[in-house]
Amino acid sequence: MKPAYIIAITNQKGGEGKTTTAINLAFGLARRGRTTLLVDMDPQANSTGIFIDPDAAEKTMHDVFAGSASLQDILVETYNPSLKLAPSRITLAEIEASGTNVDAPYILRDSLQNLNEFEFVVIDCPPSLSIFTINALVASTHVVIPAQAEKFSIDGMSGLQNTIDSIKRRINPDLSIAGALVTQMKPKTVLTKTILPVVSQFFSVFESVITTGVAIGESHLAKKSIFDYAPSCKQATEYESFVEELLRELKA
Ligand SMILES: Nc1ncnc2c1ncn2[C@@H]1O[C@H](COP(=O)(O)OP(=O)(O)OP(=O)(O)O)[C@@H](O)[C@H]1O
Ligand SMILES: [Mg+2]
Repeated sequence: MKPAYIIAITNQKGGEGKTTTAINLAFGLARRGRTTLLVDMDPQANSTGIFIDPDAAEKTMHDVFAGSASLQDILVETYNPSLKLAPSRITLAEIEASGTNVDAPYILRDSLQNLNEFEFVVIDCPPSLSIFTINALVASTHVVIPAQAEKFSIDGMSGLQNTIDSIKRRINPDLSIAGALVTQMKPKTVLTKTILPVVSQFFSVFESVITTGVAIGESHLAKKSIFDYAPSCKQATEYESFVEELLRELKA
């Protein structure tokens, strides 16, 4: 049996808060005792770096995509017993360069098939509509789209919507868009007020929003979730409310 909830955190634009959201959603679920796997699908390996040195990782998603390891073979324990990581490494990028075959979009979906250990899978995607993002969307039950309230964040939304729609239509009819999560929000700016309604023309928007705060960057440096680094800071409360809202929406 595959995990019940497979959630792709995706946006082809860079720096929108995918990794921050993936890490804190994964920890937010695990700290509730919900068994969770965080899959790092990005050759930049940013979420991997929170847990281990990506260059020292013995086996990574590169091996899964190269066919030399199963997903089970590469799992790494984290400091939360309910959370494991499928690490990435810069060499993952070589897979993309080495050309594609007809099985290419299905590698992640196939590798999740017999993973009985987890209820949730959270997938951190790269900032492109690459084969890795396609794999994530093909494998997933739900998509979360982190987006800043900025003009350039809006520009890629119709492209993302088209990609999700065609994957739904052709390959994964069960895929549903959980919603867009506004990140790095600067409250009460004109930009925020004008852009939020535009985002909601493309995707439903979570009521929970994540404001900008220095604790987020600091938590990455400290290699911790925001809940462990600064449990009472504003962004910890906001990510907690996002996790709750998502669980309500998923009826999970
Ligand atoms: N709420 C926040 N407040 C302050 N800084 C934030 C917040 N969210 C993210 N950041 C910072 O913004 C930068 C981009 O965030 P993040 O790495 O999560 O985005 P990303 O979408 O994964 O980027 P990429 O496209 O490169 O993978 C990081 O330096 C991160 O620390
Ligand atoms: Mg990232």
